[in-house]
Amino acid sequence: MSSGEIRGLPGFRDFFPEEFALRRHIFSAWRRVGARYGFTEYDGPPLEPLELYTRKSGEEIVGQLYAFEDKGGRDVALRPEMTPTFARMMAARAAGLPKPVRWFSIPQLFRYERPQRGRLREHFQLNMDIVGETDPLADAEIIAAGIDALRELGLGAADIVVRVSDRRLVAALLDALGIPVREHLAVFAAIDRLEREGEDPIRGRLAAAGVDGKRADRLFEALRLPLADLMAAHGGERPLEEAAAGLQTVFSYLDATGFADFVRFDARLVRGLAYYTGTVFEIWDRRDELRAICGGGRYDDLLRALGGVNLPALGFGMGDVVLAELLRARGLVPSELRRVDDYIICVSEDERPTALRLARALRDQGRHVLYDLRARGVGRQFKAANQAGAARTIVLGPEEVGRGVVSLRDMGSGAEREIAIEALTRAAAAEVERASPESSE
Ligand code: HAM
Repeated sequence: MSSGEIRGLPGFRDFFPEEFALRRHIFSAWRRVGARYGFTEYDGPPLEPLELYTRKSGEEIVGQLYAFEDKGGRDVALRPEMTPTFARMMAARAAGLPKPVRWFSIPQLFRYERPQRGRLREHFQLNMDIVGETDPLADAEIIAAGIDALRELGLGAADIVVRVSDRRLVAALLDALGIPVREHLAVFAAIDRLEREGEDPIRGRLAAAGVDGKRADRLFEALRLPLADLMAAHGGERPLEEAAAGLQTVFSYLDATGFADFVRFDARLVRGLAYYTGTVFEIWDRRDELRAICGGGRYDDLLRALGGVNLPALGFGMGDVVLAELLRARGLVPSELRRVDDYIICVSEDERPTALRLARALRDQGRHVLYDLRARGVGRQFKAANQAGAARTIVLGPEEVGRGVVSLRDMGSGAEREIAIEALTRAAAAEVERASPESSE
């Protein structure tokens, strides 16, 4: 038998209280935004049939699967993304649901990637998806929700940018350059790597898809153009014009929402996953120092491919890893780990039963209450109250308790006063009613 320290796996996180507080802060913000946009929360199993991913997600993600055969001989995989599960579940229920359907989820996902800054082997993702709507207003709505999920955490247009494109537009461009449809997926995959790898290695990938050097140059050039210039250069092509018009409508809705500063067109953005069919977008930090925070788009064929239901869909996944890095870099991480409203201090153990009863009454009212878990001098109890960051202390002395009162000290101002124990519990009840705090999960 070997002995000694056992470490966690590379790319997997321990959430110590500080990290967990940030995780909860992020999830709470996501849940508030989900609710404000009328989305309801769901979840699925973390382990799925392998085929759910091999059918439609594309090479890159399939290469990163945690896949194995279970004891019943089934080929299974830990979920690397939520969209296939979402499509499977939605296809099973869609017939009975009024459209459009808006669901969100915060799953933990697993990808066997090389652990590096912003990329781990597990991460959490906010997934927001809409099913049953083809109108560009739905595309604008989902992008706005993504922006708001970040604004809710204190990020603004100076911190983040949404890059938006449309696969139909790029497909029309590929058609215009004479690249056959059967090569489009391979070319999308190559374009997706353009920014990470640079033009030269991508030329090789394009050549493998039958795109010669000259056409690769024309493609690179076109992909750099703003939408209006792209239209001017390749206008007249009907599918290209239609896709561009759709995209312009999305931009105009986002403009009307007040989010023009957050978004920009970028034809180089096609997304790595295979199932996207229309609008695609990613959210990046404005300084371009980190990896993508969020990615999504329209996938109008996936529900049919995975569940036999013909319904358009669109959505995004927003990861917690890069987001947490960005929040740290911008000083947007809340410092408060826990809130302590009351610290109860006993002068002697004779007051213990009264203290315990009082603590229960205050906790029943929703107040956050602490006290020492062993008999100690008053000075040390005050020190502990200070360390815990208590807002006030409640001191129980034998003489005061005999009169039915306690001594209340505001730890901020140092002001002290006596108050009847009964009044204290009643006051707490009234305070809780007034505050009616927002649910924190
Ligand atoms: P994705 O682009 O693969 O999309 O992932 C979305 C986000 O999840 C990324 O922008 C990134 O922040 C985060 N992420 C992905 N992989 C990792 C990793 N290994 N470590 C840390 N963070 C990571 C999807 O997953 C799509 N299913 C999103 C979607 C939903 N599309 C439509 N609906």
